[in-house]
Amino acid sequence: MLYGRDTEQAEIDRLLAGVRAGRGGALVLCGEAGIGKSSLLEYAAAHAEGMRVLRAVGFEAEVDLAFAGLHQLLWPVQDRVDRLPDAQAAALRTALGSATGAADRFTIGLAVLTLLADLAGDGPVLCLVDDAQWVDSSTVEALLFAARRVTAEGVAMIFAAREGALRTAGLPELALARLAPDDARRLPAVQGLPPTLRERVIAESAGNPLALVEFAAVRRIPNGPVPLPVADRVLAGFRAQIAALPERTRLMLLIASAEGRGYMPSLLGAARRFGVGLDDLEEAERAGLVEVTGDSIGFRHPLIRAAAYQDAVTTRRVEVHRVLADTADEPGCRARHLASAALGPDEEVAAELQRAAERALARGGHGPGAALFRQAADLTPEPAARARRLGAAASAALRAGRVEEAGELADQAERLVDDPAEATSPARVRAAVEYERGDARAAARLLVRHARHAPPAEAQAMLRTGALYAWAGADLDTVRAADEELRAIGRDDRVVAGMARLAAGDHAAGLPPLRELVAEARRALPSASAADLTQAVHLGLVIGDDAAALELATAAVARCRRDGQVGALPDLLEALARAQVDAGLHREAEATVAEAAELARTLGMPHRADRLAAVTARVAAIEGDGERLRALAPADPVDDALALLDLGAGRYPDALRRLAGIAGGPRRHTAGGIVSAADHVEAAVRAGRPEDAREPMRRLRAWADAGGGAWSRALLLRCRGLLEDAEEPYAEAVRAHRDTGRPFERARTQLLYGEWLRRARRRSDARDVLRPALETFESLRAGPWAERARAELRAAGDAVVPARAAAPDLLARLTPQERQVVRLAAEGISSREIAAQLFLSPRTVEYHLYKAYPKLGVSSRRELSRLQLEPI
Ligand SMILES: Nc1ncnc2c1ncn2[C@@H]1O[C@H](COP(=O)(O)OP(=O)(O)OP(=O)(O)O)[C@@H](O)[C@H]1O
Ligand SMILES: [Mg+2]
Repeated sequence: MLYGRDTEQAEIDRLLAGVRAGRGGALVLCGEAGIGKSSLLEYAAAHAEGMRVLRAVGFEAEVDLAFAGLHQLLWPVQDRVDRLPDAQAAALRTALGSATGAADRFTIGLAVLTLLADLAGDGPVLCLVDDAQWVDSSTVEALLFAARRVTAEGVAMIFAAREGALRTAGLPELALARLAPDDARRLPAVQGLPPTLRERVIAESAGNPLALVEFAAVRRIPNGPVPLPVADRVLAGFRAQIAALPERTRLMLLIASAEGRGYMPSLLGAARRFGVGLDDLEEAERAGLVEVTGDSIGFRHPLIRAAAYQDAVTTRRVEVHRVLADTADEPGCRARHLASAALGPDEEVAAELQRAAERALARGGHGPGAALFRQAADLTPEPAARARRLGAAASAALRAGRVEEAGELADQAERLVDDPAEATSPARVRAAVEYERGDARAAARLLVRHARHAPPAEAQAMLRTGALYAWAGADLDTVRAADEELRAIGRDDRVVAGMARLAAGDHAAGLPPLRELVAEARRALPSASAADLTQAVHLGLVIGDDAAALELATAAVARCRRDGQVGALPDLLEALARAQVDAGLHREAEATVAEAAELARTLGMPHRADRLAAVTARVAAIEGDGERLRALAPADPVDDALALLDLGAGRYPDALRRLAGIAGGPRRHTAGGIVSAADHVEAAVRAGRPEDAREPMRRLRAWADAGGGAWSRALLLRCRGLLEDAEEPYAEAVRAHRDTGRPFERARTQLLYGEWLRRARRRSDARDVLRPALETFESLRAGPWAERARAELRAAGDAVVPARAAAPDLLARLTPQERQVVRLAAEGISSREIAAQLFLSPRTVEYHLYKAYPKLGVSSRRELSRLQLEPI
């Protein structure tokens, strides 16, 4: 019976009622020791009739044992693993230790989600995770990933953790308060006390239920400094209780507490060495401190375990850990006990810990791996070896998504090394950290500076990544520096060499090799590695080959989804979104960005959100939505988008000013800079300053002549039409656009040509080009541009040109997530497969479809597949 927990119990009742009705959810109970978290979990378990209850409890001793928690939780349902989609099953088997291989940490979370969702097909499921502060971080991560996605499944998850110990961002949290004195008085244990003692017990326990129960049971308040937090006073009480027990019992308690998992065989093995045994525990059992069941022994409360451990002097604890290490049944256990027994740096122990760390990493346990490497480093006597272990900890932390911790560890490692060769690995981690923090330039410079001390192949990889980072950060000097370094070490790298030529403005030398690389990647598509694909995607964007970028990015994203390489996705999705914007697939780009942002948040890449938002800035500019544009990219330099906005609104001098800035800036020789060069020419002509068009015209021509893609030839022709005020280049430009996938640019060319034709009084010819322009602008929702096309059409004698009522841009009616689900469903992909691709639970997919159907006016998948979903 619990007192004073009506709100909490009601909350749990609601969760359980919801899950019975198919609405899943999660709850985090947090609070100090003894406040009643475990008791509330028991309450939930007792009210879970008809549910399948899965449980896990954290042990301090297993906090660094990767996936130990998941193992406990899923043990009873392990046969279900075989029914998961392949990549998920493989990831989960690796995590649970029944297979080997590299598991992506989010595929494991996804596997847990799918498994729980499958189980819920047979009836509601309740997961209870107690002492979550001691559950290994890999398990916690997987469980939280699932917990955020169970809303449409019959799955409820309740976590209990000491306050401040679990970062659960976004899950509903219930902080347990102390009991009010009136509630405290209702506790039976308290009621049995004489009135004065009762009031003292109530006052001293300050509403902590554990304190109330314990103080009442011993009928006295433990002595000890009163300002101690109440949990510490309870602890002091337990210590006093233990101190009064026979020596041999105390030793058994110490062994049990040091062993930490309650695993009888290993505990008894150690006990034998000290000449004690199970009989010696009887006294403690009678006192209600421990409970022995089958082959395990449990402390009635975690604080009793802490008290038993603290009761012993250090030398005794060390002895016990040494013996436990000797008798350990498992190398991870041995390493942990050796570490606890170590009184100072000790290479042998550090090496054991390193092996434990490597085992954790092999299972995909990056968080525990990082922690173990850090412990190994702490115990390493020799500075160079310590630096190496800190470096390994740093890269594990990075892969665990703990960017700041990774940076701090890499800093420590770097401070320990004199040899520059040893500094390259931490420098690589720091570069990745800087990149995640949003400083691509700092990242690039670190890589370029450290590369020469690495072995040649590694140096080349560093310089290439450095050059790509530098390109992203518009740091052209560093792109060139990377190229020089490569030449200095005698390596030939076409990627970096090409980019360096482009950076120097030498389009003729830079573009062709890069085009060739992209073409090679396209030819090798079916067999290309994910890393090669990713690089080719970036190069495709660098040279503005949208068709290639789109194809490669789509393939790379699909590959990562299939193989469960979730960590690589934010980057690839960002590239995909850029290619989609270029290709005029605006709604798709927004959905891609939404997914990438959500993933980046889950993966611990908070700085990505800004950069991702900036991707769709150009869409806002095309739509003429200045407010949204500024909100999307408050910090990022989106001058090209702002200039386009000005251009659309006819603010030519403003556009010209911004474009002049771009022409003088580092992005002038990028594909984006070339598109802006065409805008520049138009602004100059419209502002009556054709002389300002000379420089951008030169750049545009150089790019197009160097084989910069059909779009650049079309833009060059359009600009010539503008400058020469002549028909032929316009007409040719319209033809050239036929092979390009940039509908917005094509419609602009048609608009300019139409304007020219109307001024030449060829009204019917004008209407022929203006109508498709208007249609494209409308389907792109390019308001200001559509308005201009409409005005021209009217002037060309097209009598009634109403705004196209409700253009069938059906996707615009859906939320980004509904859009993605609908698009995949329309391709005939099953819900289960869609769920796997979008990291959702299967019923969440059904839920989105159910919401989307009425908005689209359909009622089945078959009708869905007949819809024209993208109007271009
Ligand atoms: N609301 C309550 N009414 C009566 N007894 C309670 C209440 N809450 C907790 N207790 C009792 O207090 C003791 C401590 O509670 P519990 O073990 O649930 O705390 P906890 O928050 O899980 O602590 P820890 O963080 O150390 O695991 C138990 O003996 C439990 O029966
Ligand atoms: Mg508890």
